[in-house]
Amino acid sequence: APVTDLSFAIEPTTNPTPADHRADLIAKPVFGRVFTDHMAIVKYKEGKGWHDAKVTARKPLTLDPATAVLHYAQEIFEGMKAYCTENGGVASFRPEANARRFRASAERMAMAEVPEDLFIKAVDSLVAIDRDWVPSGEGQSLYIRPFMIASEVFLGVKPSSEYLFIVIASPVGAYFGSGCVSVWVSDDYSRAAPGGTGAAKCGGNYAASLVAQRESKHHGCDQVLFLDSREQRFIEEMGGMNVMFLRDDNTLVTPPLTGTILPGITRDAILQLAKERGLRVEETPIDINELFEGAANGRYREAFACGTAAVISPIGSLKRAEGEAVFGDGKTPGEVTLMLKKTLTDIQTGRSNDEHGWVHRI
Ligand code: PLP
Ligand code: COI
Repeated sequence: APVTDLSFAIEPTTNPTPADHRADLIAKPVFGRVFTDHMAIVKYKEGKGWHDAKVTARKPLTLDPATAVLHYAQEIFEGMKAYCTENGGVASFRPEANARRFRASAERMAMAEVPEDLFIKAVDSLVAIDRDWVPSGEGQSLYIRPFMIASEVFLGVKPSSEYLFIVIASPVGAYFGSGCVSVWVSDDYSRAAPGGTGAAKCGGNYAASLVAQRESKHHGCDQVLFLDSREQRFIEEMGGMNVMFLRDDNTLVTPPLTGTILPGITRDAILQLAKERGLRVEETPIDINELFEGAANGRYREAFACGTAAVISPIGSLKRAEGEAVFGDGKTPGEVTLMLKKTLTDIQTGRSNDEHGWVHRI
């Protein structure tokens, strides 16, 4: 991986949020509405490389109306979290995995690649200056959003020669309320196709998912589940998270990484933890009809969504035009789901030993 000797100029805001107001803001954070005082920003220009790295007051960007990202959506992002840990510190979870995926997304979108150490330095520098914004309540964390936009002013369709890499952060609580999530199975919209951008974390994937997400709300559901685009038969992932199911033979099953779904870092961690806890793990195509049958006859017992924002969110039921698949009583989170959630969050918050080297102290 490329390395950089670029360091960040630190320019603390002259107008920080007063401590009592900050305490109010982070007491009950709503996902993605409140932001910390600073941002990290680095510029890129062809021939010059990455330059002007700084941590500075969070403020609006000024963009020419012909800036490339506004027209052709050359944009990628990441999602990660920093936690208050048991010992009173602050730590992020597997940031090198996010840095690697960010580079992979950049490559797919023909963008400049951010060196992995620069990515981690940007995140760490921002979290360090805004560490008082990391909430410490149960299930709370600082959600970190690194992103990159094509900033060249040009309407020709080609990879931009200039980019902005920016990191912002937002104190958050649970993405979903408590209890189980209900999921609508989309049978008319696809999220991604072979050869497309499904495995990249680019804004366009999310823009394309919104109409299906809205449809899921119309059906009274919290989230949408996409099927493969060729046959509308095999389960892929949800709008903003991966999905897993527990069979009655104690096997955890999840769709394989075939290039059309996002390779979730939470997904990867759960698969490892599940194996260590004695579960069998299968990354295999899951036929939606077999899943519906299996939920009815008890073969499939539990279901959950997993991702940085969602952590592990139990799924009570899947709905589609032909009917409903209910897991357990549809209201009570599954036992194994809760065990995996506790195992994962205990590591992230330093309540249990970090045997995998996943916890990155800041
Ligand atoms: N799939 C999609 C479409 C996502 O947006 C996310 C969230 O980032 C995930 C899966 C889960 O990925 P991760 O566990 O790395 O957050
Ligand atoms: C994340 O979990 O980081 C995401 O990007 C998903 C989105 C629902 C916020």
